[in-house]
Amino acid sequence: MSLVRTVAGLAGTEKLGRQLAACLPRQMTVGLVGTLGAGKTFFVQSVAAELGVDREEVVSPTFVLCHHYQGRVPIFHLDSYRIKDPEEFVALGIEEYFEADGITFIEWSDRIVGLLPSDYLRIQIDAISEVNRQFNFTASGPKSAEILNCLAASTVD
Ligand SMILES: Nc1ncnc2c1ncn2[C@@H]1O[C@H](COP(=O)(O)OP(=O)(O)OP(=O)(O)O)[C@@H](O)[C@H]1O
Ligand SMILES: [Mg+2]
Repeated sequence: MSLVRTVAGLAGTEKLGRQLAACLPRQMTVGLVGTLGAGKTFFVQSVAAELGVDREEVVSPTFVLCHHYQGRVPIFHLDSYRIKDPEEFVALGIEEYFEADGITFIEWSDRIVGLLPSDYLRIQIDAISEVNRQFNFTASGPKSAEILNCLAASTVD
């Protein structure tokens, strides 16, 4: 199951982030895919802000294993950009995050796709112009499908 949304500018991404936040259950893994500068971190900031985290607190986790923010629910923010071998992530106990209480975001999730839970929300972000982005949401199980149903029902404007 999938859903496509095109947004205009940072405000459009922020709004989509708010809509997704309103649809997230307490426990979920969200994988983000897209080239450098596609807007993965900006989107995580937008969702986390709606979940009660100061958006300045949300910074790229490229050089650390994981950021933890405390919003209305725990939020974990991972990045596998620098991971050369998924086994490195396993050795660090990364799989525990995917079962942790809270929302786990992982940038560059396709690099460790074999480690992800079977039911997770995949979000591919593509830049279609300097400021416009296309979001492709894909559900891989009932829990993520429910999020997409909710998102599909939320108003576009
Ligand atoms: N509609 C938009 N949504 C998100 N970012 C946008 C948008 N329009 C322009 N941008 C710009 O694109 C950049 C996105 O940067 P961001 O760090 O979020 O990307 P990223 O995908 O996390 O990159 P990286 O792979 O380096 O982690 C920012 O400079 C942001 O201002
Ligand atoms: Mg990033």
